[in-house]
Amino acid sequence: MEANKENEVPVSEFSRRESGPEKRLYSHSFSTNSKMAKSLRHSYSVSPASGSRIGDSYSQGILDKLQVSIEQKSNEIDSLETAIMTLKTQRANQEFEIFKVEDKLAHLQKQFDALVSSVAELEHHERDSLQALNNKYQLQRKQHIQKHEESLTELKETITSEIEKAFDENLGRLSEEISTLKKRKARLEQDTVLQDQDLNRKLIKLKEDHSKKLIGLNQSLDESLAMLKSAIEQVADDKRAKEQQLQALSSSRQSNELSTNDECRKTLHNLKLESRIKDEELSALEAGIASSKSELHATNEQVAQMKKEIDSYRDKSADIHRSMEHKEEIRRKLHNRLQELKGNIRVFCRVRPTCGEQKPLANIEFPDLSLDDDSPNMQMVIRKPGDDNFNSNSVPYQFSFDKIFPSVSSNTDVFKEISQLVQSSLDGYNVCVFAYGQTGSGKTFTMAHEGDGMIPQSLKKVFEDVKTLESQDWEYELQGQFLEIYNEAILDLLSPAKVSRSPSKINPKKYEIKHDDVSGTTSVTNLTSVSIVDADHAMRLLNLANKNRSTAYTKSNEHSSRSHSIFMLQLHGRNIKTMETRYGTLNLVDLAGSERLSNSQAQAERLKETQAINKSLSSLGDVISALKSSQKGKPSQHIPYRNSKLTYLLKNSLGGDCKTLMFVNISPFATNFNETLNSLRFATKVNATSQSRSK
Ligand SMILES: Nc1ncnc2c1ncn2[C@@H]1O[C@H](COP(=O)(O)OP(=O)(O)OP(=O)(O)O)[C@@H](O)[C@H]1O
Ligand SMILES: [Mg+2]
Repeated sequence: MEANKENEVPVSEFSRRESGPEKRLYSHSFSTNSKMAKSLRHSYSVSPASGSRIGDSYSQGILDKLQVSIEQKSNEIDSLETAIMTLKTQRANQEFEIFKVEDKLAHLQKQFDALVSSVAELEHHERDSLQALNNKYQLQRKQHIQKHEESLTELKETITSEIEKAFDENLGRLSEEISTLKKRKARLEQDTVLQDQDLNRKLIKLKEDHSKKLIGLNQSLDESLAMLKSAIEQVADDKRAKEQQLQALSSSRQSNELSTNDECRKTLHNLKLESRIKDEELSALEAGIASSKSELHATNEQVAQMKKEIDSYRDKSADIHRSMEHKEEIRRKLHNRLQELKGNIRVFCRVRPTCGEQKPLANIEFPDLSLDDDSPNMQMVIRKPGDDNFNSNSVPYQFSFDKIFPSVSSNTDVFKEISQLVQSSLDGYNVCVFAYGQTGSGKTFTMAHEGDGMIPQSLKKVFEDVKTLESQDWEYELQGQFLEIYNEAILDLLSPAKVSRSPSKINPKKYEIKHDDVSGTTSVTNLTSVSIVDADHAMRLLNLANKNRSTAYTKSNEHSSRSHSIFMLQLHGRNIKTMETRYGTLNLVDLAGSERLSNSQAQAERLKETQAINKSLSSLGDVISALKSSQKGKPSQHIPYRNSKLTYLLKNSLGGDCKTLMFVNISPFATNFNETLNSLRFATKVNATSQSRSK
């Protein structure tokens, strides 16, 4: 019964919600069956009265049996109806369950569809982002390749022109010598040919003359003989008388013949002598040509030897360059390791001198610098004014920092410690140097004092180092920006236009900070960025920034301590041989005075400034503190960079392998005890970060 009651509730509920008429139909049919059984029992219960006529006992027995049977059947029908009812109820419940499941399924289907569509949307979004990233990557890759190709071409041209120049110098001299020798040889050959021709001509002429003379002589002899023969024939009668004449004539003819022959022989002999001399000259000339040829050969060999020497010098020079590059890489790694060992976040404390002011001094105990110079950190103790070491109620406040500079330390002493960070920025690391402290504690003196402040000294060092690196094929491009954060707004200190802090003239949207997460660089829209060429140029820019800073104050008694000033120097190095590149940033920050709201005799106008300063300084502390936690093995730690303009601007220069140095500047005077204590506590919060450093 209980079960039925339980089941009835959902059935009626189900009937109301779905297929109600059908349900009502089932109930109706059950009740009809039950009534039929009862009316049947009733009809049999009246019939025994009329059957008394047939035989009472027999009929009564049959009727009783029938009655019993009817009741049994009726009971059976009742129980069957009950069973049917139960089954129907169960069926209805199951249908309801199915409905519920279907309902749930529909709901789940809806959720699934929503998930599918959001997955599709995400995929679409991811595809878009990937596409955008890919496009960006392709673009950057293209630019890089183009840059590389350009510098490669430039390099090739330079090398080719150098080689050509070197060759031209040596080869020019040698080819001049060769051409002189060649000319000489050609001249000699020409002379030889001319002399040969001349000799041949003379020889031919002599031969011709000789043969002419011989012919002439023969002719005259023939004529004489003919005359003689005719005379003999004519004077045949007077033979004897004329025989003596004939003998005389023939002897004269003989002597003539002899003398003519002697002359010819002499001439021939002379000609032969001349010919021999010419032959000797000719062979001397040939010997000269041969020696010129051997000289030429020797010169060619010398040229080849020199070429070999040049090649070997070139190889040696390349070896030296390679070893220098290797050594430079080792130096860079060792330098960075050293900085990491010292701590990527360090805190230095500096106490300002009294500068002649006659006021009671705070009770500060410094470490003995001569003893503790190399210790990893130094300790100092500060006591409340009026307390001293012998007062039993004296409360000493002890602080520990990486370095402590007493008032006698100069800016040059201080810079010795941070010059290594300048080297790190040239090596491609991001560096931040902050000066924190109350008004008048010496922040600006530390950071920007003309000539020896950290900013001028860093710039000088950068240019000295750049010069040294040039000999190792490194070229550096330096981009400088100088800005100020005032009331959470950026002012451009290198702007050619006049800088003003008047609220009506500050446009907070003009300078937007943009971070490129791929390259890890930061830029500020519309901010003047100057390509700095040398240390003098840098000093001129610092002067301009200082001028802009001071003219930006509307009242003469206003002090620079109400804003943060940030000098940013981007150092882009490129090795023209290896094409290796380095991007580093050096940020030098003179923070606004850290005095608390209650202490600034603030009029309403100062309230906003003070709130902005306090917010950004505490954000800076929070960021460094969060970085500390993430360094200690909590990588998911949220770093609240966005809480202030200052931390957001320096996002890419804080944390990771960036180097951070915080100066906490304190006043030496007793009147400033509370502010000094606050500053030291703030610095301790920052300094706790360096506890995680490697040993
Ligand atoms: N180490 C130092 N040696 C000599 N004089 C110093 C030194 N530090 C500070 N001074 C002098 O103390 C005065 C105040 O210093 P400075 O202007 O640097 O303070 P500040 O912290 O920048 O103050 P503000 O927050 O108001 O800008 C200046 O006259 C400065 O020349
Ligand atoms: Mg200052």
